[in-house]
Amino acid sequence: MAYIILGIESSCDDTSAAVVADRVLLSNVIASQQVHRDFGGVVPELASRAHEKNIVPVVSEALRRAGVKGEDLSAVAFTRGPGLLGSLLVGTSFAKAFALSLDKPLVMVNHLQGHILANFIQQEGKAPDDPYFPFLCLLVSGGNSQIVKVNSPLDFEIIGQTIDDAVGEAFDKCSKMMGLGYPGGPIIDRLAREGNPEAFSFAKPHIPGLDYSFSGVKTSLLYFVRDEMKKDPLFIEKNKEDICASFQKTLIDILMDKLIKASRQTGIREIAIGGGVSANSGLRERILREGERRHWKTHLPEFKFTTDNAAMIAIAGYYHFLAGERTPLTVAPVSRMADF
Ligand code: KG4
Repeated sequence: MAYIILGIESSCDDTSAAVVADRVLLSNVIASQQVHRDFGGVVPELASRAHEKNIVPVVSEALRRAGVKGEDLSAVAFTRGPGLLGSLLVGTSFAKAFALSLDKPLVMVNHLQGHILANFIQQEGKAPDDPYFPFLCLLVSGGNSQIVKVNSPLDFEIIGQTIDDAVGEAFDKCSKMMGLGYPGGPIIDRLAREGNPEAFSFAKPHIPGLDYSFSGVKTSLLYFVRDEMKKDPLFIEKNKEDICASFQKTLIDILMDKLIKASRQTGIREIAIGGGVSANSGLRERILREGERRHWKTHLPEFKFTTDNAAMIAIAGYYHFLAGERTPLTVAPVSRMADF
């Protein structure tokens, strides 16, 4: 009999619940919060309040769509961190209360592991495309930029990571700086498709090893735009497609240089991506192109599993549950997880 796992995700501004039967996805419901748009970023207090409103209907709908009742569940999995503490508290408290009321085991999940394990979600009627172990995962989101060597579903080694900003932050801050809106990644992605990626050039970092840095390229953009605006106040308006295309290409170059280096150093050609920035069309195209040239086997999760979702928490919960892990009801969320 299959293990039925309910996953709950509330680390930032999406309230989500999903059900898997072993690794097969039965439902995945996401309530995205629109209240933050006017503020140019997520307002933690508003996010917590919206989670509090959304969590019961979202979980009920996920169970309904899956055709599953509370008593059918094998376990309740939830995101313990990293993320916004107030947001995490809503999902954690709900998961604890739900598991307690049903007398079901509770399983905590690291959000970042969820992004990586999203590559293992199976969907009915679709052939699985599981990465073989060990594989390298480029984990790129609003809070992280890492190269992770994944040895097994629960054995992760961070072999490279950002020493300052995450790449998603660079996308978001660039968009804010140019007055384009929030969240910046999808906006820049869209505008970049219309622009020339060779129009402008931005400084790239020289960081040893497999680590990343994105604060310099962001500053390079800031100074460039500021200087050009002095000459022509309409510079951004006239060139936004080219600026976005050139900035995005620089970020992708930085990401790819280290990923290629990591593959060479480890001899691993099984390559996956995960996290919100893995939705970027330029990055996806580039990784496929480089992969063909370098004989990689590349794995790109579907768009709906790249940004925050509970399907990835349910699948990660499944692996933890299978390994016999159980989380006590005294567990508290954490905003940062230094290591896996
Ligand atoms: O993984 P995620 O949903 O949240 C966490 O940070 O955990 O990632 C959000 C980040 C934001 O910085 C957003 O701008 C970026 O992912 N993002 C994108 C795209 N879609 C979302 N960045 C570039 N291109 C996209 N299409």
